[in-house]
Amino acid sequence: MTRAQRKIDHVQYALSTGQSRAHGFQEVSFVHQSLPDLACDDVSLTTSLGELTLSSPIFINAMTGGGGKETERINEGLALAAKECGLAMAVGSQMAALRDSEEARSYEIVRRANPDGIVFANLGSEATVDQAKRAVAMLEANALQIHLNVIQELTMPEGDRDFTGALFRIEQIVRGLEVPVIVKEVGFGMSRETVAQLEGAGVSIIDVGGYGGTNFADIENERRQRVLSYFNEWGIPTAVSIAEAASIRRRAALIASGGMQTALEAAKALALGASAAAFAGSFLKHFMERGTEGLIAEIHLLHEDLTWIMTALGAARVEELQQMPLVISGTMHHWLAERGIE
Ligand code: FNR
Repeated sequence: MTRAQRKIDHVQYALSTGQSRAHGFQEVSFVHQSLPDLACDDVSLTTSLGELTLSSPIFINAMTGGGGKETERINEGLALAAKECGLAMAVGSQMAALRDSEEARSYEIVRRANPDGIVFANLGSEATVDQAKRAVAMLEANALQIHLNVIQELTMPEGDRDFTGALFRIEQIVRGLEVPVIVKEVGFGMSRETVAQLEGAGVSIIDVGGYGGTNFADIENERRQRVLSYFNEWGIPTAVSIAEAASIRRRAALIASGGMQTALEAAKALALGASAAAFAGSFLKHFMERGTEGLIAEIHLLHEDLTWIMTALGAARVEELQQMPLVISGTMHHWLAERGIE
């Protein structure tokens, strides 16, 4: 199977397999406030992500890129929606485009469609400092995402089997780049131990990429003969992973992702300590079903809903939302108690 075909397969499987909704946010509740003393017009959605300022805490997470007209069409459509709504956007892994310049078109189109927007480059943790610099230059990117996807690789018949040296390479890239480095999971979540290791390597932005949304174990298992079914339910739910990360991090900004579909989930993620919430599979579905205009309409609704939720809570800014009291119930409460997290 060609790599371009695999990318299209991923899009198709992501759309058909859907999202499990096991992200844990249903176990997180806001405490209603009857006197918020705030007007909707006073709410600002601006947020800081390390040294970056975003006009919205919602952004489009890494999906596709690489050979083929279809990936080009998807990336251009997502980029136009990002531009129209003022969202940051990450591209999919650029490794193949670094090896074959023909493949670079579907990435470059993202910058061309949105010349002044915030764009994130993307590579895996096998990348060298030189590759990281080239990936950033290809897009004039504002930051570089490095994805960690051990479970996906293990589940892919043609995937990597050696995961040594990743943290060392990440540390070298952080030192060698002039833009911030975002380390992200792809749907299996991050523990506080992983977050502490990444902070130790100087990483300033961490995307927990939790369990409960697009499930790459499930997707890869659908494509293989010998099914590694034990990985289908492997991972830390997104809400739990943010709580884990928030309990340990000192300086790093946190991004919540993994199953984000609604403004309420985004608001809960921010209240748990994230500075931004990234949507991948659900935005791809909106785009594939309703085109760029449909995705733009969805993002406008998300912004409106988030404004109303923040008004109800009396939080005029994201930093205030991050201080809101929450009640945690069920399995998530049990998990946090077992792990000694307040
Ligand atoms: C992805 N994702 C991804 N991540 C990454 O860092 N590099 C990549 O190349 C890709 N490719 C990719 C393709 C497709 C079709 C999907 C749906 C996703 C992972 C993505 O950024 C995100 O971490 C997960 O999908 C979990 O978020 P959602 O989909 O549950 O919102």
